[in-house]
Amino acid sequence: MKDFIFEKQKFFSSIKRQFSKPWDYTSKRSHYPNSQVTLVLGSQWGDEGKGKLVDQIANEYDIICRFNGGNNAGHSVVTTINGKKIKLGLHLFPCGALHENTVNLLGNGTVIHIPSLFEEVKLIEDIGINALSRLLISSHAQIVPDLFQLIDGLEENEKSLGVAKKIGTTRKGIGVTYAMEKDRIGLRVGDFYGIHNDVIQKMQFEEQLSSLIRICKGRFNYLLDPKFCSKEDRRKWDEYTNIKRAMDRYTKYSKILSNHNTVINTMDYLNDAIKKFGKKILIEGANGVLLDTEYGTYPYVTSSCTLSAGICTGLGIPPRLLKKIDFNVIGVAKAYQTRVGEGPMATELPKEENTEMALKGGEFGVTTGRQRRCGWLDIVALKYSHQLNEFDQLILTKLDILSGYDTVKLGVGYRLKNGQTLHKTIPIDNSNYDDLEVIYETLPGWKEDITGIRSFEDLPINAQNYVRRIEKLTGIFIRWIGVGPDREETIEKLH
Ligand code: IMP
Repeated sequence: MKDFIFEKQKFFSSIKRQFSKPWDYTSKRSHYPNSQVTLVLGSQWGDEGKGKLVDQIANEYDIICRFNGGNNAGHSVVTTINGKKIKLGLHLFPCGALHENTVNLLGNGTVIHIPSLFEEVKLIEDIGINALSRLLISSHAQIVPDLFQLIDGLEENEKSLGVAKKIGTTRKGIGVTYAMEKDRIGLRVGDFYGIHNDVIQKMQFEEQLSSLIRICKGRFNYLLDPKFCSKEDRRKWDEYTNIKRAMDRYTKYSKILSNHNTVINTMDYLNDAIKKFGKKILIEGANGVLLDTEYGTYPYVTSSCTLSAGICTGLGIPPRLLKKIDFNVIGVAKAYQTRVGEGPMATELPKEENTEMALKGGEFGVTTGRQRRCGWLDIVALKYSHQLNEFDQLILTKLDILSGYDTVKLGVGYRLKNGQTLHKTIPIDNSNYDDLEVIYETLPGWKEDITGIRSFEDLPINAQNYVRRIEKLTGIFIRWIGVGPDREETIEKLH
């Protein structure tokens, strides 16, 4: 593995920054864009526009990493190549995709559906940008077999019949994969990597795979009930439980990945990159803080740690190392609020206004195409998110979508049925949401189209007041404001 790192040095020397000079990692650098490690996290329920920010600042960094989740996440990145505007929907490939001088890394905390990853690689390479040769995958990351995606979907179908609480998952097999990992029967990328030219490893992997399929057949056979399993799903089940098919596919993947030296011990690699070589690391969170398994609106959550804490386990970077370097956490918050899937959302608008906001904001999922639920910005949830992550600054995205409203609202408190009011934390018990009353502050709106504005002082005064009020209520500095989908449609606010 060590040798591999130095082989990658050759790669680095061919790109902008050299991976060679020793670095005193204890010397601090100033904040963004020079922080040595910058983390970008969605502060709400995902889809806040992290992808645009990461894509926008990726050029300042050497290595762009994902630490959690899989292809349940969706990032749209927009760029112009040869005068042509191109929009890419990425799910797994980190958002350094379009910056050829970056290495893109999937950490051990991620879960990887290999065929989907290859589809994204193709998308990127089809627009003339190298992708596979710039990708590194942790040998410890879990694989999402096709079968787990099918099980995820069938479980959702079953839950829809009222057997249990439907989550509204993305059906990408995320929960099933993390559950199998915790049950210690999951498969890791390092398990199949190399099987194309190592007979013993191939036999071992086949054994692992056969036993996993046997266990799945035993545990999930009930899901083949025609009440929730269509004929097509039944056909897929037979296909995905076919060991020969699976072995053939993983052998092919192993060959492709090893041709590009893609699978490594990313913990070693990242720690060396930070400590020995002073490389700059940009980490993008997937999903959103309020979807965290432990701290989100459980059970309506995803199955990984979506918090800043997750980078330590999901990438193998120790907390004390982060203390020694310049580490910067950027929270991404939409100027209003959206959620996909089931689960409570205190500030959700009634149907008609909800659809109006969704249409104005183009709120349709990148991963599933579902219409997102919309509502006013929830300050209580944002403060809670800040408490869990200690953001250094925020980017407030999609402020332009609020143009045209006579008034805009901020949800500043929750009044529960028992009379209790909450101002900085969300209720742990979802039943509290049933009779919850949101305390709103109403501010005057603005009518102007703000997409062409590039300086904070040029925004309509009511838009400026809206931003300043959010800062005051949350205590978080808003550094950037998104006023449109393109990279340049962002206002940098210096104070
Ligand atoms: P899962 O992560 O596919 O298991 O889905 C669990 C819940 O998280 C569902 O409500 C999904 O809609 C939601 N979810 C997962 N990833 C994202 C994301 O990137 N953006 C928004 N919602 C997400």
